Amino acid sequence: MSIDIRTLTSPDEVDAAFRVFLRAMVGLPFRDIDAVGITEPGRYLGALDDGVVVAGADSYAGWLVAPGGSRLPHAAVTHVGVLPTHRRRGIVSDLLTRQLKDFAERGEIVASLRASEAVIYERFGYGVATCAAFGRVTVSRAGLRPGVPGGGSVRLVDAAATTDLLGGIHQRAAWTGAVHRPEGWWRLDELRRAASPTPHYVVVHGDDGYAVYHPENTESWFTSSERTVTVTDFVALNDRARAGLWRHLLSLDLVDVLEFTSLAVDDPLPLAVLDRRAVTIGGVHDETWLRLIDVEEALRARAYGSGEPVVLRVEDPLLPANTGSYEVGPAGVARTSAAADLDVDVSTLAAAYLGGTRWRHLAATGRVRAHRPDAVHRADTLFAVDTQPFSGTVF
Ligand SMILES: CC(C)(COP(=O)(O)OP(=O)(O)OC[C@H]1O[C@@H](n2cnc3c(N)ncnc32)[C@H](O)[C@@H]1OP(=O)(O)O)[C@@H](O)C(=O)NCCC(=O)NCCS
Repeated sequence: MSIDIRTLTSPDEVDAAFRVFLRAMVGLPFRDIDAVGITEPGRYLGALDDGVVVAGADSYAGWLVAPGGSRLPHAAVTHVGVLPTHRRRGIVSDLLTRQLKDFAERGEIVASLRASEAVIYERFGYGVATCAAFGRVTVSRAGLRPGVPGGGSVRLVDAAATTDLLGGIHQRAAWTGAVHRPEGWWRLDELRRAASPTPHYVVVHGDDGYAVYHPENTESWFTSSERTVTVTDFVALNDRARAGLWRHLLSLDLVDVLEFTSLAVDDPLPLAVLDRRAVTIGGVHDETWLRLIDVEEALRARAYGSGEPVVLRVEDPLLPANTGSYEVGPAGVARTSAAADLDVDVSTLAAAYLGGTRWRHLAATGRVRAHRPDAVHRADTLFAVDTQPFSGTVF
């Protein structure tokens, strides 16, 4: 079997690749989607068997926020799928390896993805850099503490025509781990809402926050004693917006339970309520699988805590230009020939990069080799972040 791996160029090929993705994923809700409208030209890689698309791997160009606030050129990897008739023949390996080289050529510094399975992507240098959690609030018990900021006024807007408004707010996201949401992402989001059997509501706080929510189990809504509303997108650019949106959601008549599909693992909501047991944050799961495409530039772009530098020896078999030693410290990052303090592979470095995974835990699980007893502690001091990194965007 000879498989040709190349960039898909015609709308028909892109459409065929998207249908392959839907077949490979088995359970996604979409059917009649114009794939060209939700993809970016020249970024969909395909595998063709005798001219027929049998697998694909797509990506969006954008940014990812590093610790300290810089925005790195970022490739958001998505629509990865291989037809069930062609799996386990190395096709996705060829696609993802080629994709990494394309990103490097484009000057993209990092890439990330969301994984359907947690055992596929580490071999390509991706590591879990952020986690997300589910949230559940018993509304009747969730009175806010007196010191919680008042928040400003909120308004309900038409859920069908919000992309410009919501996109304009999200575009200013500055928390570590936030990623750009491209046009295709918003278009798919609109289609998802339009296809939903229940109504969606959008509440906006000034120009600095919004929440998207919908009711569950509407067939028994009228008489239910556990009316549940699910918040699928909660974006607050500051504490005031967060509090204003909480106040709106917690004051909805009829609603017994609020569920959040994606929260930062250290979301402050449990701290805001008088009854700590009114809020459960749980189901912590891997969110951002991060790949450092240009290790030196990525290390340079983030901020560091104070302390002595460390020398990291990095191994990257798929992008060998990254293999080497880097001195990392608050004064800067430089390639070095000095002896390494820590040996690390590129996927493990990605896991530590945003500060969400501690070096001491990586060392304790055998994923980092330390050559000096204090090296792990020094690395943790340098890579520490104020709040847990979090993306909040599924793509
Ligand atoms: C997951 C998927 C993309 C893998 O594609 P593939 O072409 O079969 O993968 P490859 O043949 O290149 O396999 C690469 C390696 O990953 C392993 N692997 C791939 N998928 C795996 C899975 N789901 N579970 C465990 N291992 C897996 C293979 O065993 C192989 O390991 P090896 O090199 O040690 O033998 C494909 O099976 C698929 O489309 N699945 C359904 C859709 C999906 O999950 N897409 C990912 C969206 S994030």
